[in-house]
Amino acid sequence: MQTIQVKDKTFSLFIPEEKILREVKQVAMQINKDFEGKEPVVLAVLNGSFIFAADLLREVNVPCEISFVKLASYQGVNTTGEIREVIGLNVDLTGRPVIIVEDIVDTGLTMAHMLEELKKQNPASIDICALLLKPGKLQVELDIKYCCLQIPNDFIVGYGLDYDGYGRNTRDIYSLIQN
Ligand code: IMP
Ligand code: MG
Repeated sequence: MQTIQVKDKTFSLFIPEEKILREVKQVAMQINKDFEGKEPVVLAVLNGSFIFAADLLREVNVPCEISFVKLASYQGVNTTGEIREVIGLNVDLTGRPVIIVEDIVDTGLTMAHMLEELKKQNPASIDICALLLKPGKLQVELDIKYCCLQIPNDFIVGYGLDYDGYGRNTRDIYSLIQN
């Protein structure tokens, strides 16, 4: 299917499943090499990374623990207004090598905040593994060790990524058609 409709917007085919899976496999092989004998804790960030994490981790063959986390936002009573907290973390990270699995890094603010929160638990190391990166949007300095694909600044959906909660359940990735 070359175009799809998600709510009020139209998206066109951007990255076909075969290409995504090829790149995911390459990154899994890098992880297998780098983490041999290390037993990492893999933290997949919900909701967007659920399909990526499933495909990636079926190609990862080093012993690892897998946990799903979420950054929950709520309005707090501090001066900056928004408080973001990592929820769902049920593994002790002390002294462990950690791999964060994220769908897409855009401004990088989400990952920067996640790193800050996870560092409080004194892990041995933290590496970021992102399916997608928009280098043109990055606002903070971020070391992204594993990245499957770099893309332009367009808004995309599919393969776990959503537009307003919809469009996550497609095999391919689609890009917004600007009207
Ligand atoms: P950042 O904090 O700006 O890096 O934003 C990262 C988060 O925004 C990702 O985890 C996604 O959930 C979401 N996001 C950024 N770009 C897109 C996109 O093109 N499509 C869907 N979600 C996106
Ligand atoms: Mg996300």
